[in-house]
Amino acid sequence: MNSRRDFLKYASAAAFATGATPSLLTWAFPQEQSVDVPGEDGMLLRSFRFVDLETPVEYFNTWLTPVPHFFVRNHMYEPVQLDANEWRLSIGGEVEKPITLSLADLSKLETYSVVNTLECAGNGRSLHRPQVPGIQWGKGAVSTARFSGPRMRDVLHRAAVKPTGKHVMFRGLDEVPGKVPPFIRSIPIEKALDSDTLIATHMNGQPLTKHHGFPARALAPGWIGAASCKWLTEIKLLDAEFAGNFMNPAYRWPNQPVKPGDAVKPEDTHPLTALSVKSVIAGPTDGASVSSGKIIVQGAAWAGEADITKVEISTDDGTTWNPAKLGHDHSHYAWRLWTYDWKTTKSGDYTIQSRATDSQGRTQPSTPAWNPSGYLYNAIDQVKIHVA
Ligand code: MTE
Repeated sequence: MNSRRDFLKYASAAAFATGATPSLLTWAFPQEQSVDVPGEDGMLLRSFRFVDLETPVEYFNTWLTPVPHFFVRNHMYEPVQLDANEWRLSIGGEVEKPITLSLADLSKLETYSVVNTLECAGNGRSLHRPQVPGIQWGKGAVSTARFSGPRMRDVLHRAAVKPTGKHVMFRGLDEVPGKVPPFIRSIPIEKALDSDTLIATHMNGQPLTKHHGFPARALAPGWIGAASCKWLTEIKLLDAEFAGNFMNPAYRWPNQPVKPGDAVKPEDTHPLTALSVKSVIAGPTDGASVSSGKIIVQGAAWAGEADITKVEISTDDGTTWNPAKLGHDHSHYAWRLWTYDWKTTKSGDYTIQSRATDSQGRTQPSTPAWNPSGYLYNAIDQVKIHVA
């Protein structure tokens, strides 16, 4: 077995042989049982059936995540064959001039770059208590890259959006397995026309790889990853939010706080948009044993459409908090790396906690807002270590 594809085939065949159903397989791995994928450079396999790969938190030590370390989230099968010469993007619906663009047409438009932290709404789901069904992501369904491509608004202007075009629907080329609904979602026209919203064709200076939506994807910076449709092939202007499974009931947030067990009616929810404020400790890692003296605590913090203003660290169970040093690299929508030099001479067991605050005045809570689908986990992060 020498490739990821072979491994996945083998793994799914083995799992099917046990009689497990595909729906069970998609959340087959609790966090502590994550599986390394051969050929994927330390990435953690979270689902057999469709490729879902998590970035280990130890990789949160570079501002731009190398593409092979960038998490992957697929709801369906990736398109089997994609010929860049054949690929077309159609723009229709509530527009005056429906158009179809080739990759060559897109490349003639002015290119912009946005450094964006992309986070899956379900990141951290395995940490919610009580637990909820769905992919049991640990902390690593989040990564950062420089995305480049034409602005979505330049493409929309060419098609001349009618005043009735209030929502922008995206369809990708993924292969829909059987009779389940395709991955189609929409974003409001205001976000689509934002100067930072792109039709991205490149990631960290290279053409998108297949996992990340080759040859083009939507990029709605600062929003949940689901807003950034991969393998984009159709943009349709609608007069209302797209009605379909991935807009409702999926990816919605209760209008009022809910307790575990509360029934939430779809009409009492709204679509998820921007990400929350959050920090994650990349090192030392949970369970590590380190020597006393100077210990460098490091990690990343991000806040969707807001900027990180501070990250604080506690090593005494939250009694005192000290500021971490924010990294030099920063850009709106991108995470901020941080470090904290901790000097300890006393051996023993410690819990290190990190807490981020953003420019909207939001601070990571000690308890996350529980919700039935386990979205937007953003509690104060912690690792337990032993100082020898
Ligand atoms: N686009 C399509 N066509 N199909 C998908 O399954 N998954 C979405 C989004 N775009 C998805 C998609 C979700 S839920 C996330 S979090 C991001 O892609 C993940 O992007 P990545 O795989 O490049 O990290």
